Amino acid sequence: MNRHGIFSAGCTLLLAFGLASTAAAGAATPPKIHWKSEHITLPTSDLTFSGPGGQVLNTYCLMCHSADFVNEQPAVPLATWKIEVSKMEKAFGAPIPANQIDHIAEVLYQRFGPPKP
Ligand code: HEC
Repeated sequence: MNRHGIFSAGCTLLLAFGLASTAAAGAATPPKIHWKSEHITLPTSDLTFSGPGGQVLNTYCLMCHSADFVNEQPAVPLATWKIEVSKMEKAFGAPIPANQIDHIAEVLYQRFGPPKP
């Protein structure tokens, strides 16, 4: 490469650098963000079951949903609770031993009482 070649390569580089920095400076400056805090009060929730039978429900139900989620369901007949607990096991994969399903359904039925007419 002769002297002239080195010179023009240097010029080209300088020019490219100059253009790039002009483009960066010319880029739209981001809009100013005004952050502000909001305060909300979340509803309180019963996360665990208490009272009679609470222990077995805490063991088998809380890994997927809160106690409140179950407590808010309507009262249903005992047979429906059995179907419901079986569904948790068969359809949703709850690790409920087969010999606990009837017992859990009974616990739920006792807690909720008979369906309201
Ligand atoms: C492996 C996860 C898992 C476990 C453990 C589990 N459930 Fe569920 N449960 C679900 C899912 C998923 C739903 C459906 C949620 C939805 O529809 O938004 C559900 C829904 C319910 C419902 C609402 C009615 C329905 O059929 O959608 C009740 C009642 C319920 N579960 C009771 C129980 C009880 C009682 C236990 C413990 C014996 C239990 N669940 C354990 C996953 C589970």
